[in-house]
Amino acid sequence: MNSIIAKAEAWMEDVFSSENTGHDFEHLKRVVETATRIQATEGGDLFFIQLAALFHDYPDEKLTHDTNQAKGELRKWMKDEKLEEPFIQKILRAVDAVSYKNGKNKIQAQSIEEKIIQDADRLDAMGAIGIVRAFTYGASQKRQPLDYLKVNSDTTLQHFDDKLLHLKKLMQTETGRKLAEKRHDFMLLFIEELKNEQAIKS
Ligand code: ADP
Ligand code: NI
Repeated sequence: MNSIIAKAEAWMEDVFSSENTGHDFEHLKRVVETATRIQATEGGDLFFIQLAALFHDYPDEKLTHDTNQAKGELRKWMKDEKLEEPFIQKILRAVDAVSYKNGKNKIQAQSIEEKIIQDADRLDAMGAIGIVRAFTYGASQKRQPLDYLKVNSDTTLQHFDDKLLHLKKLMQTETGRKLAEKRHDFMLLFIEELKNEQAIKS
């Protein structure tokens, strides 16, 4: 592994080790792995993809009070690693572009590298792992998992309709689209089974 990637990984492990809202270090590692897998068929600069994937959640509003300060810290770290200014700027742009922001992010993923990282990040919100992350995040926000009392639709299950079931059609690369199929179908199966089990009267 490239030594800068190894160092960045160690830094992020340290920062994210206390995270419990679904933005854990394991998420970052999975995004790097999935992005690396997508890069194998889609191309793009692998070093760039891996570094931006490791950094993509660092300035996230859910994790920091000051996204500009967080971006400044990323910039300083990369400068200390002697990375060139245009490269640093491209990394910071990619980090901005990957963020979902409830579908309202004005900065669109443009380069193949940005599209790959965005697909990998979205894939991690889908499938079995996506289900685990959604209920973990929901619980951290004191959200009910299911609408037991049928009075309040602000449940984690609602998040599947709001976001998770839309991700498949938002994939930006052909390889991402293929990987999304199985994960999407698994979420549908999970919801169907959940509804079947809830319908059983004891
Ligand atoms: P990412 O890190 O993949 O960019 P987000 O920051 O939007 O994604 O969310 C992190 C995780 O928390 C994802 O798995 C996402 O589905 C989940 N999540 C975000 N908002 C909600 C919500 N309102 N209810 C349940 N889960 C959520
Ligand atoms: Ni993420």
